[in-house]
Amino acid sequence: MTRIVYVNGRYVPYSQAAVHVEDRGFQFADSIYEVCEVRSGRLVDEERHMARLKRSLGELQISQPMSEKALGHVMREVVKRNRVRNGLVYLQVSRGAAPREFLFPGDDVLPTVVCLARPGSPAAIDARAEVGIAIKSTPDIRWQRCDIKTVMLLPACLAKEEAHKDGAREVWFVDPDGYVTEGGSSNAWIVDGDGTVITRQLGADILPGVTRATLLDAIGEAKVRLSERPFLLTEAYAAREAFITSATQTVMPVVRIDGRAIGDGKPGPVAQSLRQKFHHFATISSA
Ligand code: PDD
Repeated sequence: MTRIVYVNGRYVPYSQAAVHVEDRGFQFADSIYEVCEVRSGRLVDEERHMARLKRSLGELQISQPMSEKALGHVMREVVKRNRVRNGLVYLQVSRGAAPREFLFPGDDVLPTVVCLARPGSPAAIDARAEVGIAIKSTPDIRWQRCDIKTVMLLPACLAKEEAHKDGAREVWFVDPDGYVTEGGSSNAWIVDGDGTVITRQLGADILPGVTRATLLDAIGEAKVRLSERPFLLTEAYAAREAFITSATQTVMPVVRIDGRAIGDGKPGPVAQSLRQKFHHFATISSA
């Protein structure tokens, strides 16, 4: 349960937490966010999340609302006040509230900052990873700056809703040439017949996942063969293994794509071993 939310300098009860009706996040999705894993009351890969937040703000020319240190303090405080041991902390920064007008408001309009924390169940996520998840593919109808972590998530919501009806937990977006870009809220990976781990290279068409970056460190250390390149959906169907990565699930094995079993239809050894190793490579910040 979320009890206390940080909104623009104040820690307020959840039921009273609110932003202005003319917040640009609400009217234009003119807003960016981060989701950071909380593990044993600590933040996972805080520095990488902060670096991405800074980059997202810069790409949209939204001013940094406060120093990274101060934002880190807010996140930790929200985690503490909500007594979250394991779960996530969500931080959103919009361009602020101003009478609706497409052009950016003046410098007197300050960014809106919201931060909330929510407990999760590591046991439930581990149980899901034991059996793996199903994926449904869908055309990638998103904009061409998916490298910026904006709250403009409607294509993902629509696609996930459809996937859910088919019993799939995540979607994989596919570009017009048949290549998988990424998941609705995760990065996409496969392992080919030779044991090479394949994931799309960074670019404007995918989010530079923090979990992805940390996993690349783990893969480098484990001396697993890696290829950062686009892969076709048909390659994924024929892959030995598949998995997704995100802050909330770390490494999650994929066992079905569009109703087809991947490999033997069970979580693969590469995905399982990388899942086990993940937190050894992540940076866990002090409380
Ligand atoms: N989503 N790609 C997309 C489109 C995402 O929304 C996410 C994360 C990722 C994985 O990034 P990271 O490893 O930094 O979590 C990739 C978060 C978890 C969300 O929207 O809830």
